[in-house]
Amino acid sequence: MSKAISEIMEIVEMRMNKVRGSHDLEHTKRVYTMAVKLAKKEKADLNIVKLSAILHDIARHKEDLSKGRLCHAKVGAETARKILNKAGFKIKVINDVCHCIRTHRFRDNYMPETIEAKVLFDADKLDSIGAIGIGRAFLFAGEVGAALNNKALDIAKTKPYTEEDTAYREYMVKLRYIKDKLFTKTGKKMASDRHSFMKTFFKRFALECASKK
Ligand SMILES: [Fe+2]
Ligand SMILES: [Fe+2]
Repeated sequence: MSKAISEIMEIVEMRMNKVRGSHDLEHTKRVYTMAVKLAKKEKADLNIVKLSAILHDIARHKEDLSKGRLCHAKVGAETARKILNKAGFKIKVINDVCHCIRTHRFRDNYMPETIEAKVLFDADKLDSIGAIGIGRAFLFAGEVGAALNNKALDIAKTKPYTEEDTAYREYMVKLRYIKDKLFTKTGKKMASDRHSFMKTFFKRFALECASKK
């Protein structure tokens, strides 16, 4: 890590020390490591990818506090711009990083246009599926007070950020579609493997919840 990048990491560590487990600093560090791996394979600009990965969830806690009303990609890009500006980064670098952060979210219409933004998007989504994705889904459900499973409820009528937001709901409405959203060749290949493990787990989970296994 260069001196400039490790200084940004220190700022992020200070700001994210109270963020809850499902989107904590460990998630940011895993995304950083994965993004660097993808960037090398996809020949993306490593400096842009590293800065974007470190800063990508800087505003996540604000979205959690607003119970999903505020978009952490939008606020995060604005916050990152201020941090990078203050640290003296060039405007081109700031603009490129902010594009990556603004477009890394799964649920809005801003699409990644550069290879660096596609790499960040894929690295972030890979952390939402597979064994880690399963773990994070249950962690998040616990954070919002959801049960282990809520089989009496019709998932189509349930709401996110509520006690209805179980890990199984997250899998059914979001996680099972993620592998088809990725952009890079390397990311897609890894997503396919993580997806099949996750699919096996939730299939078995549903059977056990229904006392069929
Ligand atoms: Fe995010
Ligand atoms: Fe993230």
